[in-house]
Amino acid sequence: MGRRKSADLAERILRRPERLPRHVAIIMDGNGRWARRRGLPRIAGHAAGRTVVRDIVAASAELQLRELTLYTFSMENWNRPRTEVAALMRLLDQTLKEQVEEMDRSNVRLNALGRLELLPKYARSRVERSIERLSKNDGLRLNIALSYGGRTEIIDAVRGIVEAARRGEVRPADIDEDLFRRFLYVPDLPDPDLLIRTSGELRISNFLLWQLAYTEIYITDVLWPDFRRRHLYEAIEVYQTRERRFGGVAQASSGRR
Ligand code: IPE
Ligand code: IPE
Ligand code: MG
Repeated sequence: MGRRKSADLAERILRRPERLPRHVAIIMDGNGRWARRRGLPRIAGHAAGRTVVRDIVAASAELQLRELTLYTFSMENWNRPRTEVAALMRLLDQTLKEQVEEMDRSNVRLNALGRLELLPKYARSRVERSIERLSKNDGLRLNIALSYGGRTEIIDAVRGIVEAARRGEVRPADIDEDLFRRFLYVPDLPDPDLLIRTSGELRISNFLLWQLAYTEIYITDVLWPDFRRRHLYEAIEVYQTRERRFGGVAQASSGRR
């Protein structure tokens, strides 16, 4: 598909602004397979994924999405070979360094969620400086899930609640979904409307376990380094045809229970 086709697709989805997702979350998978198919080391796939991030962030900002959450590095990814982990940390650092100006021009804010204390110091400090640098913006919020696990997030929330209870600030009877949410890594993060996973795996891989309860899921076989903005538009176009019921009944019949 050429530029024209891609622009047409964007125009089509923008024609239904009330049906645009507010929050898109992406499991950026398939870098290793992309590299292997080319006889390259895995890290070459990660490096190729970097330019895709730039393009998808820009496209999301142009569509005026409110939130884009990218699964960048999972808790389980710490178990990968040390050389791969080290290379991924360097790439994170370089990517933020290179792209922060462009993000600023696109009015993008930045946020990170996960056990950031596990990151090497230089990478963590890059993340923090980039967040600070973009903190005055009020366009798209880019959330990078880093050293992130859905179960870890829930456990960390439970710890926070127990500590608050010990201080006498929370009583067991106060604990409900709204209160629980306030103890998650990003208390004001709305649930994703659309989850995209690249490279065809049919699983969640410990991503946003609490927040994905009613998210629409779109899985494509395209590997992350091959993912282009037209693929994002295609996913959104499919999302616009979905009927979200949240356990209720279809819109058309909801008037006559
Ligand atoms: C996703 O690509 C990037 C990270 C998990 C950091 P992978 O490295 O998982 O690529 P595949 O799944 O092996 O192809
Ligand atoms: C999920 O991909 C994590 C990220 C994309 C950062 P993985 O490649 O780690 O997940 P599995 O191992 O296929 O479930
Ligand atoms: Mg993978």
